[in-house]
Amino acid sequence: MASTSAKVSIGSLFSVLLVLIAFYFNQNGHSDFEQRLEETLNGLLRAEKKVSLSYKPKVAVGFGSCQDLFVHSKDVLLFNPPPKIPEHFHSISTQDELLKVFAYFFRHGAAAERYIKNETLFKEVLELASRANDVHWAIGGNAPVMAARFAKEGCDVLLGAQMTKGLKQFLPDEVIISGPFTEEDDIHILLEYLAGERWGPYLASRANRFIVHNDHSNPHLMSIHGFVKHLETFNPNLLVVGGLQMMDNFPFQPQLRREKLMQVSEICSRLPQDTKVHFEMASFTEEALLHDIVDLIIPFADSLGMNEQELPNFYHILKYGNVTLISEATPRVATVLDQMRDVFDILQETWKRSGQRKLTRLHVHTLAFQAIMTEKDSSWKNTMSAAAKAALTAHRHTCGSHRIDTAKAKLILDDAFTSSLRNDAKRIPVKSSRPVSCWDEGDREVCVAPVLVCTEVLQTGGGGDNISSAGLVFQI
Ligand SMILES: *[C@@H]1O[C@H](CO)[C@@H](O)[C@H](O)[C@H]1NC(C)=O
Ligand SMILES: *[C@@H]1O[C@H](CO)[C@@H](O)[C@H](O)[C@H]1NC(C)=O
Ligand SMILES: *[C@@H]1O[C@H](CO)[C@@H](O)[C@H](O)[C@H]1NC(C)=O
Repeated sequence: MASTSAKVSIGSLFSVLLVLIAFYFNQNGHSDFEQRLEETLNGLLRAEKKVSLSYKPKVAVGFGSCQDLFVHSKDVLLFNPPPKIPEHFHSISTQDELLKVFAYFFRHGAAAERYIKNETLFKEVLELASRANDVHWAIGGNAPVMAARFAKEGCDVLLGAQMTKGLKQFLPDEVIISGPFTEEDDIHILLEYLAGERWGPYLASRANRFIVHNDHSNPHLMSIHGFVKHLETFNPNLLVVGGLQMMDNFPFQPQLRREKLMQVSEICSRLPQDTKVHFEMASFTEEALLHDIVDLIIPFADSLGMNEQELPNFYHILKYGNVTLISEATPRVATVLDQMRDVFDILQETWKRSGQRKLTRLHVHTLAFQAIMTEKDSSWKNTMSAAAKAALTAHRHTCGSHRIDTAKAKLILDDAFTSSLRNDAKRIPVKSSRPVSCWDEGDREVCVAPVLVCTEVLQTGGGGDNISSAGLVFQI
């Protein structure tokens, strides 16, 4: 009896296999999924080519800078026994805490960034990291990475950052730097890991990084005075504010942090209305800081950019007043769009009451797709092409190559998705020939572009900055 059923199941397994093989390869020997990748790539490239800059936009980007040290976590942490219980710490004092908080994010494949308040510990980690194999140094911090990308895309750029003369050499010459020039750069260590990597019982579901730092200059926004001086004559089309997460859990004198943030909001409030303001979200964990940002910075932003972890976190702060540290690493389109709709609604309500700037653009970058929501009668242009460019940039950055090889890519987004988890959901097909899906929702336009997810990841850190700026360039 047992052997008959075994035969039956082997026989049916065989026929299922045959069907699968037949399905997998079409007539010309390409698998369907290879063809879908090629078509999607060509579609995204066509969408990207549709737009060329008709003028040289002026973009001012603040604040801060650092040296990024990219290292593989296995060379710094993973040879330690994994902690039995992962645990979150807002800032890190001991090796034990470092391992626990790293494990906390690693097992979810979630990006995060934390302050190491113990300088001795930080130096030990740095020492270990700099001696590892395959390390590389690059200019880091949201502002310089975004500034470099804007410059590469043909913009005139003013960067609000302190840095050493040595670090300046990593930036394109034409970027104007507010200064001051310093003797030492803050250093960030980017502990990268790959999808499917194991550490004892923990498995990373996607490639990502955990960043640690022990900044002195960045939390104080050292560059702000020089930046303000340049800003008046520079007269930008777009001001991008980022890097404020360096204040997260930094031991400030009471009130000092809020004063710094008020200086930023003053800068924004003095800008003419036709200078757009974009705020780049980051890995914030300190509720008090996020509340200050919601009070002092968000009301001055026309546009926001964030990733799949930062969106739920921001949404929770707006809706419930508390933070969420970890969210789904590869969320569904419907979930992301619903949260984007709510963020838009909440902030536009606030705007109606307090009347600073109205949020008219929201860009969320995730591993599998890029989503951009804009208000139709705003000045943001080319949302479809911007989503395509953001998707292409995501691949180019993580794979480390401008030219995209579909052999190193996969699609996570299915051939259709649901637009919402609510009653009025639509089923939106993803056509490989026209991969970016755009539709209207009342006053808003929504565009979703599939990402050709890089399967041979070189780096993840800095991805969000490149992606956000690449999207913005087409829209100003
Ligand atoms: C700081 O780190 C060093 C090196 O890991 C450690 O010996 C020391 O106990 C730590 N200090 C505190 C206050 O945790
Ligand atoms: C945040 O607050 C909401 C509503 O009070 C609650 O449901 C949620 O569990 C809280 N989240 C955290 C992380 O504390
Ligand atoms: C992203 O920015 C960094 C720093 O400017 C740069 O090294 C990297 O090549 C950029 N990625 C892409 C895709 O341009």
